[in-house]
Amino acid sequence: MTEAVAAPPAVADDATRAREALVRLRTEVAKVVVGQDAVVTGLVIALLCRGHVLLEGVPGVAKTLMIRALGAALNLSSKRLQFTPDLMPGDVTGSLVFDARTAVFEFREGPVFTNLLLADEINRTPPKTQAALLEVMEERQVSVDGAARPLPEPFIVAATQNPIEYEGTYPLPEAQLDRFLLKLSVPLPTREEELGVLRAHHAGFDPRNLAAAGVRPVAGAADLAAGRAAVQRVGVADGVLAYIVDLCRATRVSPSLELGASPRGATALLGAAKAWAWLLGRDYVTPDDVKALARPTLRHRVRLRPEAQLEDVTADAVLDSVLATVPTPR
Ligand SMILES: Nc1ncnc2c1ncn2[C@@H]1O[C@H](COP(=O)(O)OP(=O)(O)OP(=O)(O)O)[C@@H](O)[C@H]1O
Ligand SMILES: [Mg+2]
Repeated sequence: MTEAVAAPPAVADDATRAREALVRLRTEVAKVVVGQDAVVTGLVIALLCRGHVLLEGVPGVAKTLMIRALGAALNLSSKRLQFTPDLMPGDVTGSLVFDARTAVFEFREGPVFTNLLLADEINRTPPKTQAALLEVMEERQVSVDGAARPLPEPFIVAATQNPIEYEGTYPLPEAQLDRFLLKLSVPLPTREEELGVLRAHHAGFDPRNLAAAGVRPVAGAADLAAGRAAVQRVGVADGVLAYIVDLCRATRVSPSLELGASPRGATALLGAAKAWAWLLGRDYVTPDDVKALARPTLRHRVRLRPEAQLEDVTADAVLDSVLATVPTPR
């Protein structure tokens, strides 16, 4: 009897604790990364949605550092895999190795057997190896020799890439880009932020030693699970659902795009907006939450027409004009 009465507040407490832990993640990352708040928030949203993230930005803007810091702030296993031109699919997923002692083949787990995989510079590796990673991202298991081996739970890939026009890169197959929940653009720092970076370095900050910089694990699997459950309870009015659908439909008729966002893109936008609303401490989604997440959830799911590309139109610019034209529900 008393238990039944006490149950609802306990759920709320779990959720509150989880939110506090996830917000602390941002504080931990901020101990070593100056600025880049939007990117760090995107990473936290992806964790909450069990979604994979792609970070894109020019070299040296802390893409790797940010994800390493996130890994250090989480009580989860995390591995980093540098994608190089000679990396083989088996180096990603694992492979069968012959054990001379027992004379049998045994599966040696690849780096994907972890909770948070930093897939660094994913577009430096040839398509075959990229495909191996993209496949396990979708299936969350590795199949070798007829046996399916499930990956740990959660399994989240945070991949980085340099903008595709860089030399010696293999663009990710467009058809598979939508396996990433979010594509986050990592901008150059402002002048003030860059000064902050220099001050930290001048004072002795060593990016290789995150523990020395005070980054501690502050959230774990239980927080993510409680957070995820709470995000699922976030309310969405019918008008807001319709707004998401209308935005995606508008991308499909945009004259600048040859491919618009799919229904999968629409569900991604819904999930990300719910996670964002919950992180802000709200239990319902507003149209502004949808607007805030539209670019990172949809920019890699639309394809520009060649003419638009020639005119230097960007996916973000098209999404902005879609956001400006589709009527916002009250
Ligand atoms: N916003 C920032 N805050 C703190 N340090 C930064 C920031 N931006 C750059 N740095 C410094 O620059 C270094 C390079 O960052 P990092 O290696 O993470 O870049 P990257 O974006 O992964 O580059 P690449 O594309 O070449 O891999 C960091 O180790 C850090 O010292
Ligand atoms: Mg890097």
